This record gives sequence, structure tokens and C-alpha cells, in this order.
Amino acid sequence: MIPSLDPSKSNSHPKSTHSFKGWVQGLRGNNHVQFLQLRTEGKIIQVVAEKEFLGEDTFKQVKGLPQETSLVVEGILQENAKAPGGKELFLHSLQVVGESDQYPITPKEHGPDFLHNHRHLWLRSKRQLAIQRVRSELSFAIREFFRNDGYTLIDTPILTGSIGESAGTLFSTEYFDLGQAYLAQTGQLYLETAAFAHSKVYCFGPTFRAEKSKTRRHLTEFWMLEAETAFLNQEGNLDLQERFVKTVLKTTIERTLEDLKVLDRDPAPLLEQLAKTFPRVDYGEAIQILQTAGEDITWGEDINSDREQILTTHFGTAIFIQNFPRAIKAFYMKQNPNDPKTVLSADLIAPDGIGEIIGGSEREESYEKIVERLKEEGLPPEDYSWYLDLRKYGSVPHSGFGMGLERVIAWVCGLSHIRECIPFPRMIYRLSP
Ligand code: 4AD
Ligand code: MG
Repeated sequence: MIPSLDPSKSNSHPKSTHSFKGWVQGLRGNNHVQFLQLRTEGKIIQVVAEKEFLGEDTFKQVKGLPQETSLVVEGILQENAKAPGGKELFLHSLQVVGESDQYPITPKEHGPDFLHNHRHLWLRSKRQLAIQRVRSELSFAIREFFRNDGYTLIDTPILTGSIGESAGTLFSTEYFDLGQAYLAQTGQLYLETAAFAHSKVYCFGPTFRAEKSKTRRHLTEFWMLEAETAFLNQEGNLDLQERFVKTVLKTTIERTLEDLKVLDRDPAPLLEQLAKTFPRVDYGEAIQILQTAGEDITWGEDINSDREQILTTHFGTAIFIQNFPRAIKAFYMKQNPNDPKTVLSADLIAPDGIGEIIGGSEREESYEKIVERLKEEGLPPEDYSWYLDLRKYGSVPHSGFGMGLERVIAWVCGLSHIRECIPFPRMIYRLSP
């Protein structure tokens, strides 16, 4: 749908003419008629320029318009089932607003490096328009879900004085006389404090990891949705995650069908995956399945992305892997009372090679156990005194999770690399544009 086709919203002239403002995305035709693809409000409208109607000079001007020239066009809207949006504009007049010369991204094929170097322009391309629109809809659906569920949005800080996840992937900077500040790897610890104020809270913002790995699923700056709920155990946490993921994905798909078409993404297989219950597979059981599949892996090891894919293929949908070994998980995860070697945690693994999209757990309530785990991780407990206060003043069972936005966009759009899922990706080898 082209928003400006609504006459009440466009700059309509008395009765029948309409005007659109935009950029020349493409131009084709012959010596009598030209079809101009005008990008307006992120959508394409076809503008038909006829020599017989416009006269020789104006027709020649249209025919010679360079790609990405900005224009105001005016004419009459007419039905055309074959035109994008089902309508086209029969051109009466045009005015050039800004010229464009030798636009670097042409309809020919360009390599990914070239395109990423021109990311500031590449955003105008059809597929990129579609991906960013999916991102926008997904972000909106996420906020909508939590608002409808009675959650309060809490904006957690980006500059922090204590390490949220692991010391291995930190960006740090000098902070006046106070020593090192770190860019937030997560909002979780702050969100936990807010959960004791509001009971149900979420945050949604950029997070930072100095990931040294060059993979298809790692960015150094990515967006994370995190939710934290007081008086919720790990089972309830998984119920919430499953309901959340299914709701926001279905809503996003419904609202972006045209975009998914542009991306050649058939939503049917994804909807089928979402119709299934996400199996809750114990870590120990996952290790056994992998061993049976011939993998050389033993209890206690982390499960890498290739192995995650073996597991999702085995089950044919997204799966939770739960109750990981305590030693390989973060200090704040609650020790499993039924199996103290493990924690009440789960990762949600998406199929199609997307991998882990959610990490979450019930939180440790015991002051002593958290201090013990902090020390094991080499993190100074004094830096966490404010966090530990939660365990002193009205401690309650509580649980939460974090979902990586870009990986979910890649899943919805059927993309193999997450770098196109964020307007300006940050990776170890890319800081510009
Ligand atoms: O599993 P993670 O590290 O969990 C946390 O940060 C918890 N504090 C969340 C919580 O319980 N509130 O990260 C959560 C998710 C991962 O499952 C993944 O989807 C995404 O964030 N993620 C990344 N996405 C892109 N690039 C990276 N480098 C990512 N690291 C994690
Ligand atoms: Mg994780």
C-alpha cells in the first residue's frame, strides 16, 4: 500500500490531481512512454510519462532523469493492477528538487563489502527498505505486547560501573575520576531492581559486546529486548517467552506480507514452525541427542551454533535448551534445587541456522550463592552492593530473559547474516559509515 495514495493525506489539488514527493528509484520505457519508479515514504509508486501528453521537452527531461534525483510530480491517479500498490500516476508536470549524478549503487550486482561501504545509500534499495520496515514493525509489536501485558518500560543505563554478563566482551572507557565505565552488555541487573518496584518490567535498547568472533550472528552493537518479572518461576518464564515470541512474530508477519514478498520470504514455513509447541529439552538430553548424531561432545561443554542447528532440525521448530551446567552460565542464574550442578536457565534456539535468540533464567535469591559465583568469575562483590541489596530487602523469586532483535529479524526475513538487520552494523572490522 502506498500511504500517500490516500487523497486526504496527499497534497491533492482540487478534484483529480495528486502530487508526490520522492526520489527516482528506476526508469524504463521507450521513445513514447516512460515508467518512472518514484520512491515516496519508502514505497514505490509508478509514474507514467507519455510523450504525446507532455510534449517533447518535458518527456526528454523525464527520460534523462538520473537515478536518485529528487522530484515533486503531479498528475492523475489511475488504476493499474500491474503497478506496485495497484495504482499509478499519469504525469502532468514535474519539478526537480535535488540533482543526482553518478549514484554509486546501480541495478547491477555489487559485492557485500561495496554495499556496506555505501550503507548510507544502500538503505534506499528495495530489499533494505523491506528489512528496515520489518524491523520497525517488530519493534512496535514488542512494545505493544508488553504494554498489553501490563509491563512498565524501564530505560536502563548504557554507561555502567559494573559488568553485566562476562568480563570477556567489554567495551570500556575512562570515566572522569571514577575509573573505568563499561558500555552495557545487558540491562538486566538494573531491570531486576526495577522489577522489585513495578513487578513487571521490560527494557529495549542497544547493548554492546566486544565480540572478537566474525560470525553471521554477532554484532558488537545490537538491540536487546529484556523482560523481568517478580514472583515468576522459570517455568512461567518459559511460558511467557513462548507466548511473547509467537505473538510478536505472527503480528509482524501479518503486517509485513508485502515486504516479505520483496525479500522472497515465504512466511508459510515460519508460521508452521510457530504453530508447534517449542520443546523444552534438558541440556543433558541435548548432549545425548548430539552424541547419538555422532558429535564428539561431553556433558559440561557449551553447545555451538552448528550443534544448535542439529538440534532444531531434529525437532523441526524452535527449542528451549534448559538447565545448563552452572559453571558455563552467568553468576546471577539460580542454582537448580533438583540438580545443583545445573542452573534454572534456558536458551531459545531458532531453526534455519539462526541459533540462540533468547537467553534467560530464574534469578538466584541467595545472597551467599551470588557472592560465591561473583568471586569465582573474578568480579568484585563490592561493585554489586546495590544489586545484592535486592536479596536483603524483600527478596522474591523472579525471572527474566533477553532477546536479540537482529537475530529475530533474520529469522522473519529469512536472512543468513544479521548485518543487514540493523541500519548501521557495528562489527569488529566495521565502524563506518
Ligand atoms: O544470552 P545473553 O547474553 O543474555 C543476557 O544478556 C541476559 N542478561 C538477558 C536477560 O536475561 N535479561 O543475550 C541475550 C540474547 C542472545 O540470546 C542473542 O539473541 C542476543 O542477545 N545476542 C546477540 N545478538 C547479536 N550479536 C551479539 N554479539 C549478541 N550477543 C547476544
Ligand atoms: Mg546466551
